[in-house]
Amino acid sequence: MGCSIRVSISLGIVCLFSMWWCGKGIGVNWGIQASHQLPPETVVRMLRENGVQKVKLFDADYAILKALGKTGIEVMVGIPNDMLASVGGSTKAAEKWVAKNVSEHISSNNVNIRYVAVGNEPFLETYNGSYIQITLPALYNIHSALIKAGLDSQVKVTVPLNADVYASSNDFPSGGDFRTDIFQPMLKIVKFLNDINSPFTVNIYPFISLYTDPNFPVEYAFFDGNASPINDGGTLYYNMFDANLDTLTHALQKNGFGNLPVIVGEIGWPTDGDRNANIEYARRFNQGLMTHISGGVGTPMRPGPIDAYFFSLIDEDEKSIDPGNFERHWGIFYFDGQAKYPLNLGTTNSGTLVPAKDVHYLEKKWCVMKPSARLDDPQVQPSVSYACGLADCTSLGYGTSCGNLDARGNISYAFNSYFQKNNQLEVACKFPNVSMITKTDPTPTVASCRFPVMIQPYYESAGLRFWCEQKPLGLVSVLVLILLTIL
Ligand SMILES: *[C@@H]1O[C@H](CO)[C@@H](O)[C@H](O)[C@H]1NC(C)=O
Ligand SMILES: *[C@@H]1O[C@H](CO)[C@@H](O)[C@H](O)[C@H]1NC(C)=O
Ligand SMILES: *[C@@H]1O[C@H](CO)[C@@H](O)[C@H](O)[C@H]1NC(C)=O
Ligand SMILES: *[C@@H]1O[C@H](CO)[C@@H](O)[C@H](O)[C@H]1NC(C)=O
Repeated sequence: MGCSIRVSISLGIVCLFSMWWCGKGIGVNWGIQASHQLPPETVVRMLRENGVQKVKLFDADYAILKALGKTGIEVMVGIPNDMLASVGGSTKAAEKWVAKNVSEHISSNNVNIRYVAVGNEPFLETYNGSYIQITLPALYNIHSALIKAGLDSQVKVTVPLNADVYASSNDFPSGGDFRTDIFQPMLKIVKFLNDINSPFTVNIYPFISLYTDPNFPVEYAFFDGNASPINDGGTLYYNMFDANLDTLTHALQKNGFGNLPVIVGEIGWPTDGDRNANIEYARRFNQGLMTHISGGVGTPMRPGPIDAYFFSLIDEDEKSIDPGNFERHWGIFYFDGQAKYPLNLGTTNSGTLVPAKDVHYLEKKWCVMKPSARLDDPQVQPSVSYACGLADCTSLGYGTSCGNLDARGNISYAFNSYFQKNNQLEVACKFPNVSMITKTDPTPTVASCRFPVMIQPYYESAGLRFWCEQKPLGLVSVLVLILLTIL
């Protein structure tokens, strides 16, 4: 009962706040490809304590949406690419998706869903065109389903696209246009978004440019104005972000959609797994972006506020490393909700990130290489390969956070990663004759390297999570809310 009142009062305050804040501030991408996730309530509390007003999800996880209910936080839910064919191929499937993953959460739990992301970078070249024909029908069907549900004015549809859907013919923003091989499908999507008053969503990655092109001018990736600017017919560009966004603006303008709103769906910098992925660069990039955005200046072609979502909130240790070892390290928080570096979002009193509270760790135990084991023991190499194949060794290697470990440190890191990922099960530290469990923290004095202890696995424990939401005081809550709003 007491709980119910508390929820309502804080809800009232958030509602009042969100009237002033609505649509402002930075958003975050909340992905869940992690072996050990923090409970959704813990993450939502962290979002609120950091003043984050917008989150973008990659699907429509029930527990996460439940936890976002009644917080006022704006939510973009996502339809994964592998569902595009079904919702694009059947209006019934699209209606079911909207009923279950949008309407129900709005009506029964007051989740502030504002967007449906239809697919995630479906035109990426690595997909070989698999989703090109099905994306527009999916977009169309979901929009129709939203109309039918009476939600189309509140919930907009969009398609988060990789910035490679457009290119420049002259290496300057002014040469921007949609990629020739997908020109027609892109035009149709843009026209449809324009017709229904929905935004274009683009993901922009200066880090990837630096990663793939060793000659890329490093300073041009950042916002400090230290790069020699690019002169596009008299318009100067001091950073890649502005130039990239304006390449899109030119592409839209050229095709008659110069006023289509644009959301930056993903933007960020990873902290590990590559020589250019480190804490210093990530902090510099993300803080620079914050300052750039909060100034409200916009880009040369599009002055004004920029709507953007950080990629990402928390590290995900089960992401595919096909794009590179950095892929598991995009978080501004580690897997356990601890901040990686100070970052001022302009929304907290402390002027920096607030870490997750009440995080439950496993015991302080690690799996390491036995001091008595020899480096040339024939068991060592296969054990390391096995551990790294199933756990996460992306912090080893040239230029990474644990890249300076010696051979023994390397081996211990791999063993420990496997052991922690398997919830410190004793059998997960039984590499024949070469490993042992220790309670002495093996974290080396090597500056940046961490030998983590895993957090407790999170299971959906309905009982505990939902007791708070029994609403014996439903009417009182509403009155408190109305009162607070009037005051
Ligand atoms: C709702 O979304 C979830 C998560 O993406 C998905 O697994 C489920 O199939 C969706 N429900 C319907 C009815 O389409
Ligand atoms: C794309 O094509 C390449 C080569 O033709 C193939 O190796 C790869 O598996 C394909 N990817 C997908 C997602 O179909
Ligand atoms: C275990 O390691 C010790 C010391 O390195 C070695 O003498 C012994 O032969 C090893 N046993 C097995 C089963 O590999
Ligand atoms: C540690 O492991 C990494 C990645 O497997 C490797 O590149 C590096 O050479 C190893 N270092 C030593 C000293 O064995």
